[in-house]
Amino acid sequence: MKVQKLFWPLLLLLAAPMFAADAPYVPKPAGTLTFNKDLAPIVFKNCAICHRPGEVAPFPLLTYEDVRKKARGIVRVTEERYMPPWHAEPGFGEFKDSRRLSSEQIGMFRQWFDEGMKPGRPADLPPPPKFVEGWMLGQPDLVLKMPQLFTVPAEGPDVYQCFVLPMNLKEDKYLNAVEFCPGNRRVAHHALLFTDVTGTVRQFDAKDPGVGYRSFGGVGFKPSADLTGWAPSNYPRRLPDGVVRILKKESDLVIQSHLHPSSKPEQSQSQVGLYFSSKPANESP
Ligand code: HEC
Repeated sequence: MKVQKLFWPLLLLLAAPMFAADAPYVPKPAGTLTFNKDLAPIVFKNCAICHRPGEVAPFPLLTYEDVRKKARGIVRVTEERYMPPWHAEPGFGEFKDSRRLSSEQIGMFRQWFDEGMKPGRPADLPPPPKFVEGWMLGQPDLVLKMPQLFTVPAEGPDVYQCFVLPMNLKEDKYLNAVEFCPGNRRVAHHALLFTDVTGTVRQFDAKDPGVGYRSFGGVGFKPSADLTGWAPSNYPRRLPDGVVRILKKESDLVIQSHLHPSSKPEQSQSQVGLYFSSKPANESP
């Protein structure tokens, strides 16, 4: 069969789920929507990751009461698509871990709110979401820690500071995953992780007094490789089977941190977990 003949059917097939996902909301039978049955699954899956104690959002969304108190705001921010934060435009393929709510989900928040926010039957409430404490990918093979605490002043402009963590590897390694663990979430805006095999970051570090060195918009030179980035609620991932990155034994790790003052002096000492693989990448056949 000619390739062209497949084009339109294939395109329609691919496009169909995208349109279907955003079909206009068809209201549910009046008075049937409840928090426990209909809203809790959405909140637990899409909001709780940030809206829980110790995380980036300013209030929790973990219970009926939490959601009821904020319901008016929730209807507004979901309809405006301000929450959950997700900037990718729909219709250009599917992203892994997309946070985008469907029109159906957004409509349910509105209808439930307009109909008086019924809690529903306790038996319908799904189990509360579980979140991993500590390292999300399990115990790393190598943990690197900033050598000292770094103090972020109470006031003033945001701080862009690079921290150098020598790896002291005895041999080259196959890298399967990297996990960043921020030292203090109240000040951590985001972090970018790089490696340097040239010794340059050590020189920068030695020249600048205090912990690490100041550098806006990068690490101050072209690093050997970039490893990963972190921002609140950004989960680390392992590379797929048969894919690894090579970490040269001379590598130093450098964390470029964007930190913002919290209105009182804060201390931070971040860690990085490295996960190695004993297998090299798959050889191509
Ligand atoms: C990736 C993290 C993240 C996720 C996921 C998330 N939020 Fe938020 N939310 C925040 C942060 C941070 C703020 C405070 C900053 C702001 O208002 O911009 C916030 C603020 C809000 C506010 C107050 C906004 C205002 O203007 O008053 C509401 C309401 C809200 N979130 C509801 C939700 C709901 C409902 C969901 C899930 C459907 C959700 N959020 C998912 C991070 C998140």
